[in-house]
Amino acid sequence: MTASAEKRKVHIRTYGCQMNVYDSERMADALAEAGYAPVDSPESADLILLNTCHIREKAAEKVYSEIGRLRHLKARAAAQGRNVTLGVAGCVAQAEGEEIMRRAPSVDLVVGPQSYQRLPDLVAEARAGGAVVATDFAVAEKFGVLDRLASRPQHDRPAEAARRYAAFLTVQEGCDKFCAFCVVPYTRGAEVSRPVAAILAEATRLAAEGVREVTLLGQNVNAWRADGPDGRVWGLGRLLFRLAEIPGIDRLRYTTSHPNDMDDELIAAHRDLPALMPYLHLPVQAGSDRILAAMNRRHRRADYLRTIEKILTARPGIALAGDFIVGFPGETEADFLDTLRIVDEVGYASAFSFKYSPRPGTPAAAMEQVPEPVKAERLGRLQAAIAAAQARFQASRVGMEAEVLFERSGRHEGQIVGRSPWLSPVQVEAGPEKIGSIQRVTITGAGPNSLFGALSQAVPNRPTALAEAAA
Ligand code: 5AD
Ligand code: SF4
Repeated sequence: MTASAEKRKVHIRTYGCQMNVYDSERMADALAEAGYAPVDSPESADLILLNTCHIREKAAEKVYSEIGRLRHLKARAAAQGRNVTLGVAGCVAQAEGEEIMRRAPSVDLVVGPQSYQRLPDLVAEARAGGAVVATDFAVAEKFGVLDRLASRPQHDRPAEAARRYAAFLTVQEGCDKFCAFCVVPYTRGAEVSRPVAAILAEATRLAAEGVREVTLLGQNVNAWRADGPDGRVWGLGRLLFRLAEIPGIDRLRYTTSHPNDMDDELIAAHRDLPALMPYLHLPVQAGSDRILAAMNRRHRRADYLRTIEKILTARPGIALAGDFIVGFPGETEADFLDTLRIVDEVGYASAFSFKYSPRPGTPAAAMEQVPEPVKAERLGRLQAAIAAAQARFQASRVGMEAEVLFERSGRHEGQIVGRSPWLSPVQVEAGPEKIGSIQRVTITGAGPNSLFGALSQAVPNRPTALAEAAA
């Protein structure tokens, strides 16, 4: 029998944030080493992994309905003599652990985000018939495995093939802030920063594979701190400057940030580093000081607005994005109006908004709750305000010229799509040979989420790692 005929198949479904997207790729990498090939649908898979999100109740409940559906698929496979292993990974796994096995006996394996380095062994154990729960914290070890996987050549890493010109790179994980509504400090653990050398190695490898835009990821990415090669402690600003020196890395972004960690060096990077794209996701969650205090955000409305002002001074025209929660316990109509006002004052380019969802084990879950209809009504008003702000931002781009990194074909032939510096997608009429290049585009129109444009002239590419390798 050939090795390929023996290959098992894994299907990974990802829920939630970009860190989960990144982790799913790393899980696929780890499993590829153990002989698992990725497949797009669960039907033919020997191993199905749900990489889950616990941030709001709805996200967590989705997982249980999906397990319900997969239970039938598993039973059908078993009737045909095929052993399908069902695993739950991610933050629901971390938060609920053994509870998942009790609630959903068809699950064979529960693995939290800090245990992915052991995935091949855990899967083997589960396939041998044990019910396996791995939810201990060992982030340093996890980063060690990321480093090892990241140093393997691309052809060994099937998940990588999809990420061509823009890629994520995890630099930080976990959170020490303990906002009163949030499960992240419990599911992802304490803040841990990845070392500089490992980050530079991964970025250099991505550049060598043709990646031109790197987004640094972390639950609290701007809290990243590590020893620099110069013997000083580096913050994210310093790291961005260093990453921009890597040939081929033309564009940098980072997400997501806490307002209190926007230090002067990072703000200066927005002024002095052309590779740092003019986009910043800086959630405030609420506009009233009373609610900000109850949320344990550790800053006031005025502090946030002062930070925003500094950023706008450093990089005028930057696209600001936010997150908001409505109906946090104790939120009055007056508090909510403060949130609406902050949306107008900041002039967001985009924002996510959510009804407060009580999460087991977090302090706010035990407080007196705002009635559901009130939350729904406030969310409607907030979303209308956000949509209006977003439309104003989109319209303000029309007539501007911007550099767009084209990443894929559009819906119809002759159309390609890329990202503007402000992160919004830009559609232009052009041939597929432009995919992978950065082009100057004149913005000619704006929809609610996309911009439309026409090519102006090609930007002479900086020498990329690929070109240097070929020379
Ligand atoms: N309920 C509603 N929204 C939440 N978020 C985090 N926890 C909750 C919760 N319990 C939102 C915050 C955060 C985003 C990722 O999700 O706005 O920034
Ligand atoms: Fe959650 Fe607050 Fe940490 Fe963000 S800063 S991950 S909202 S606890």
